[in-house]
Amino acid sequence: MNTIRHMKRGAVLMLGVSAFALQAWASEPTVVPEQAPFPAQGKITYVPRDSIVEFKALPTYSEPDWVTEKFVKTGKLPPVEQRLPKEPMVFKTGNMPDGIGVYGDTLRHVIGGRPEGWNYSAGQTQGWGGIDIGLSECLTRTAPLYQVEASDMEPLPNLAKSWDWSEDGHKLTMHLVEGAKWSDGVPFSSEDVMFYWNDNVLDMNVSPLNGATPETFGEGTTLTAIDANTVEWTFKEAFPRQHLFAMAYGTFCPGPAHILKTKHPKYNKEFTYDQYKNGFPAQYMNIPVMGGWVPVAYRPDDIIVMRRNPYYWKVDENGQQLPYLNEMHYKLSTWGDRDVQAIAGSGDFSNLEQPENFVESLKRAAQETAPARLAFGARLIGYNLHMNFSVNGWGEPDERGKAVRELNRNLDFRKAVTMALDRKKIGDSLVKGPFTTIYPGGISSGTSFYDRQSTVYYPFDLEGAKALLEKVGLKDTDGNGFVNFPAGTLGGGDVQIVLLSTSDYATDRNLAEGVIGQMEQLGLKITLNSLDGVKRDDARNSGRFDWTLLRNGSELSSVVQNTPQLAPTGPRTSWHHRAGPDGTMDLLPFEKDMVATVNSFIASNDNDERSDLMKTYQKISTENVNTVGLTEYPGALIINKRFSNIPPGAPIYMFNWAEDTILRERVFVSADKQGDYELFPQQLPGKPGEAGPIN
Ligand code: GLA
Repeated sequence: MNTIRHMKRGAVLMLGVSAFALQAWASEPTVVPEQAPFPAQGKITYVPRDSIVEFKALPTYSEPDWVTEKFVKTGKLPPVEQRLPKEPMVFKTGNMPDGIGVYGDTLRHVIGGRPEGWNYSAGQTQGWGGIDIGLSECLTRTAPLYQVEASDMEPLPNLAKSWDWSEDGHKLTMHLVEGAKWSDGVPFSSEDVMFYWNDNVLDMNVSPLNGATPETFGEGTTLTAIDANTVEWTFKEAFPRQHLFAMAYGTFCPGPAHILKTKHPKYNKEFTYDQYKNGFPAQYMNIPVMGGWVPVAYRPDDIIVMRRNPYYWKVDENGQQLPYLNEMHYKLSTWGDRDVQAIAGSGDFSNLEQPENFVESLKRAAQETAPARLAFGARLIGYNLHMNFSVNGWGEPDERGKAVRELNRNLDFRKAVTMALDRKKIGDSLVKGPFTTIYPGGISSGTSFYDRQSTVYYPFDLEGAKALLEKVGLKDTDGNGFVNFPAGTLGGGDVQIVLLSTSDYATDRNLAEGVIGQMEQLGLKITLNSLDGVKRDDARNSGRFDWTLLRNGSELSSVVQNTPQLAPTGPRTSWHHRAGPDGTMDLLPFEKDMVATVNSFIASNDNDERSDLMKTYQKISTENVNTVGLTEYPGALIINKRFSNIPPGAPIYMFNWAEDTILRERVFVSADKQGDYELFPQQLPGKPGEAGPIN
């Protein structure tokens, strides 16, 4: 295996050298310009991986007094020690920025998405903004790893409290947390894990949210249940530790099998797959979760309210059952309004990710009376233009679509596009100042795997770009300012490209407009297909686009999370190149090199080798313009000052979004600062499917 890997790497590096000797008439590719430093970035304290959580029994447990008084003493709930696992997860006090907390209060989120329903396993969104992150507990957890030293980097235990590798490294035995229960009191077991795997991931009629496919866990990987609390993975490769990252959010977070099975066609023939997916609509309340809070109220375009999960399986070192916060709000508004409300104090939390709001937010946060604090992280938010490379029928393109995809597959065409983009101007159009930076594409400059010398950049050169279009055979034959196809293609009409984007974010809208304007200068006619988030995701995931503008996922911001998405490593892993209806892929030679590199990265446990492989990946992907980078900038976490246990320097995005990174279950509000925001004080989730919380 090693020899093949090394041969592949050799071939890849040679390709790198030859492409640097380019035609004289195009401007020379170079390494990307050095970035201006961004001094406002918060400092992270690095800690050993095992200093965050452990699993153990404690001598006594407690819960908010009102739960004992109103629910336990009246016989509505068993005592807390019976609701907890044998050995609950214990958050270590030493890792808590402000220590052990107290119960009470609400975290008021504002979100721009809307809930489709609660069937995450079948691909329904709950509206993002941290709702699904809070409901879902996954086998492992990676969001807090931003504070773990690179040499100690491995996912944290979660629903899987520990794991062991077989001697040959092909088998991984996972021990599930024993005695943990869903929020309705039904035991969590390997049955939930197997239902997610067999009937959602492996069942080709179902696509879980965030796109888990069998290949996400390595080709040929199998999973079996050994007993109620043990599952066993079998891998083709030896010790593919990288897959532990795929077992975290969002690709291995099992749903409640006892509820979902009732509408899954395999277990209930009365239901179709469509009815399964839509069987738990947004109005369905009290869906059982393993997360800290359960949805108990929903008013369309207004709010989703969640109350504490009385069966939550995590505690602090004093034995207090978590979470500390009794309630969560998700006000249904816009993403831009999330920034405004968090800054104003009518909301509590925002990921400040739209540069258009940076200056105003910074000004307000700098005032002493500001209700919220704002802290920037590294430059981990980025945008790319993805061109559809599939000529195998993915997304059923018409003649025009097919012709565009042929262009997309042409390196000179992609170079023309990237060279025609003035990235300084694009960045400045979002916000002036030291925030945005030139980003040619590839992995984020904020990851530990980033190497500037391996990052190929085609500088802005409109004339060179035009010459390349001509070389590709695209000329403006009718003098209308836009290039035409050659006479034999589509009657020699204008080349027309549809750019799929989302209308949910000002930044996406502005970037799309910027791209369209700059492409016009090049002579390419781009029309915008701007859709709301759900429709955009649907069009993107089913391949109905020529080009699409996307905010980067964690494969680019962390490299180790969602790694298979870095290349078309499987039929449904890449954002812009997937298999056609008959399962065929049609990879370009450089994509095959990327796939080999990413697969070697996944299979390797050697840190030096992995860092070399990522350099190779970066070189191949940027040199070949795998995607067209647009801009990259830091994001800031805005959080109301009354909250404690917010780790300093937490990035808003790296392995996952900040809603997970800050570990909301151990966030608290000290007694003197608690607000009066609970809409359902002293109430708990009711029965699955029944309306509202209960008294
Ligand atoms: C949306 C928001 C992000 C983050 C995620 C969480 O994508 O834009 O800031 O809140 O949801 O899933």
